[in-house]
Amino acid sequence: MNLVKPVAADRLPALLRQMPKAELHIHIEGSLEPELIFALARRNGVALPYASVDELRGAYAFTNLQSFLDIYYAGASVLLKEQDFYDMARAYFLKAAEDNVVHTELFFDPQTHTARGVSMQTVINGLHRACVDAQAELGVSASLILCFLRHLSEQDAFETLEQALPLQDKFIGIGLDSGEVGNPPEKFARVFARCRELGFHLVAHAGEEGPPAYVWTALDLLKVERIDHGVQSSRDALLMQRLAKDRIALTVCPLSNLKLCVFPDLASHNLRQLLDAGLAATVNSDDPAYFGGYMNENFTQTFAAGRLNAEHAYRLARNSFEASFIDDAAKARHIDRLNQTFAAFQ
Ligand code: HPA
Ligand code: ZN
Repeated sequence: MNLVKPVAADRLPALLRQMPKAELHIHIEGSLEPELIFALARRNGVALPYASVDELRGAYAFTNLQSFLDIYYAGASVLLKEQDFYDMARAYFLKAAEDNVVHTELFFDPQTHTARGVSMQTVINGLHRACVDAQAELGVSASLILCFLRHLSEQDAFETLEQALPLQDKFIGIGLDSGEVGNPPEKFARVFARCRELGFHLVAHAGEEGPPAYVWTALDLLKVERIDHGVQSSRDALLMQRLAKDRIALTVCPLSNLKLCVFPDLASHNLRQLLDAGLAATVNSDDPAYFGGYMNENFTQTFAAGRLNAEHAYRLARNSFEASFIDDAAKARHIDRLNQTFAAFQ
């Protein structure tokens, strides 16, 4: 692609920050910063097991996915009212706009909230109103993807779907998250088939900590359009060929993988291997309040670890638009802007 001129290593961070991009893997509950957790706890009279923001932040030392999920679900306990969900998403959209994220598809975990007695309407209406305002006030387009918690039963997922269906115009897709190992995609085959009949976009976390076999079953049994994480796919050459051939996007989250000890350091991350094998990899923040950075931090830290150049930056941003669930005209507009940014970059 002669559109992409070589860029000196010291100029790459500026290009990474400036380029327009889409974020396709962000759990909105994972954008809840400790300061907002304390503010909402005070507003709602919720007691927290931490004395201060610093003490809470000090607890963010994770050894694997489960050690993170325990603290992440505890943090979400301060969310009670529609305005709380709005304020959480609003804070994320302000960060996204700063990072030149022009489109985003947000995951939310309704079961985390309905299990505490918060209604489905409270959750979805608060998040959806924030999405509408993000477009109008910040120029960031946003849509919602409802995730089932895979450590719970398929029956629980079916009940969650039933509760959400009266609000089905307010979300565009269905995802699968929470503890992966021991909760394979096939556990949710029937509920995903139902969601497919209903016309939702489908995605699933697979191959974050779990084996390549889970990526295969997410594709073949759940029939997902994108794989969230998917970094373990590089252990299976046939799977890599399949992902490349079908242009199945992987929503990779480098700082998440680092903080959850999926890779020992960013220099060992396989993002470059995935891109060079022709996969439609993207960069995303996952749970930025917990993993030390929003989109631009994910890009700049991963590129600072070396082995990625301006051509990779272009492909990652372009992949993010191509893999998004916006219409073709909107994709073309964003890719035009991306091309202009690269052409004009000195
Ligand atoms: N994996 C699975 N579930 C999650 C994650 C993740 O990275 N973040 C929030 N819920
Ligand atoms: Zn995730």
